[in-house]
Amino acid sequence: MKLLLKNGNLVLKDCVKKADLLIENGIITKIAESIEENCKTLDLNGMHVFPGITDMHVHLREPGYEGKEDIESGCRAAVAGGVTRLCCMPNTDPVCDNAVVVSYVKRRAEEVNLCKVLPIGAITKGENGESLSDIGKMKSAGAVALSDDGKSVMNSQIMRLAMEYANDFGLKCLCHCEDKNLVDGGVVNEGYNSTLTGLKGSLRAAEDIMIARDIALSESLNVPVHICHVSTYSGIKIIRSAKARGVKVTAETCPHYFILTDDIITTYDTNTKVNPPVREEIDRKAVAQALKDGTLDCIVTDHAPHSLKDKQVEYNSAAFGISGIETSFALSYTYLVRTGILTLSRLAERMCAAPARILGLEGGELKEGAPADISVFDLSEKFVIDSNKFLSKGKNTPFNGFEVYGKTVYTIVDGKLKYGV
Ligand code: DOR
Ligand code: ZN
Ligand code: ZN
Repeated sequence: MKLLLKNGNLVLKDCVKKADLLIENGIITKIAESIEENCKTLDLNGMHVFPGITDMHVHLREPGYEGKEDIESGCRAAVAGGVTRLCCMPNTDPVCDNAVVVSYVKRRAEEVNLCKVLPIGAITKGENGESLSDIGKMKSAGAVALSDDGKSVMNSQIMRLAMEYANDFGLKCLCHCEDKNLVDGGVVNEGYNSTLTGLKGSLRAAEDIMIARDIALSESLNVPVHICHVSTYSGIKIIRSAKARGVKVTAETCPHYFILTDDIITTYDTNTKVNPPVREEIDRKAVAQALKDGTLDCIVTDHAPHSLKDKQVEYNSAAFGISGIETSFALSYTYLVRTGILTLSRLAERMCAAPARILGLEGGELKEGAPADISVFDLSEKFVIDSNKFLSKGKNTPFNGFEVYGKTVYTIVDGKLKYGV
């Protein structure tokens, strides 16, 4: 089983280099200026070859909410977005809080056989915030991290225990940071636009307080912690100063937080409703800057597909979330690289290498001996985002009609072509 990629622009750690790349039995075996092999060959004609994207924050919805997404549709959408590996959140029904559900998700993903799927186990039983789930058994079944995503663990003593047990098993807690009492039913960022629209706002502090708490626990206990979907400039300041003192904190953000501001909520389009909410220009700029300086380690999607009936309702009742896995690369390339904020190598660091490092997984870089998880993009052709063409069941995006660059051409997982012809 050999596959030769010819004439690609390889996005390497420190540079972009025109080279050929040979895959044998699922492994990158050779990178060189010119390789000749009598095997299946793809002439890339100057297109860009990235390490496969690892999206460490995805909602696949199965089991339980297959109307919104299932493992198959989610994985099809993932490879269409250049994602070769994803971690799926446990807020399913039943919640992924035990070894049986972890095994089910893994087995179903293996049958689907598109991208790699690594389940995240719930921190607490049923994400109830009060009783710890069986962390050791979930780890043995294949869970790669723990999270009660969708909710915060409000009880700090439970969070303390979770972080300690998780660490004993070599897992990290991925923290959805939201002080439930302070949010108090808010659906958008609290500020000028919440007043203008009459939609109930939620303060930055609701996010920042929990970021600060989880960092305080990490620092006191000397265990690592990962902060999910950072959206506030003030939260970024907390993370930056924690990193400066050597706290083992890592953090992620999503394209909507470095592209959008809450000006978009004035349309009352429920596709703009996401948790945490998109905030103001000061936040948007800070998120982009933090991706540049490394305060934010990685870009994830928080792919949160919902059905039309969950979104075609009044703003207050609509579900939170954006279907993002098919647009993440193009949006990140367009808004971070074409604007000069990140180089291509830095974008690969944020989308491919950093998530792997945070979770202690192999891969994430194009080099000889690495697994052949590879994404090929055409960076030159402009296209318009159209959710009707999404492979995901979730058509809920605020980016419809946006003009972007960075079309996925091929997605290769373990040396096998999973997207593109
Ligand atoms: O917008 C969101 N959607 N934020 C979350 O934390 C959960 C997610 C979901 O599951 O729909
Ligand atoms: Zn979340
Ligand atoms: Zn999420």
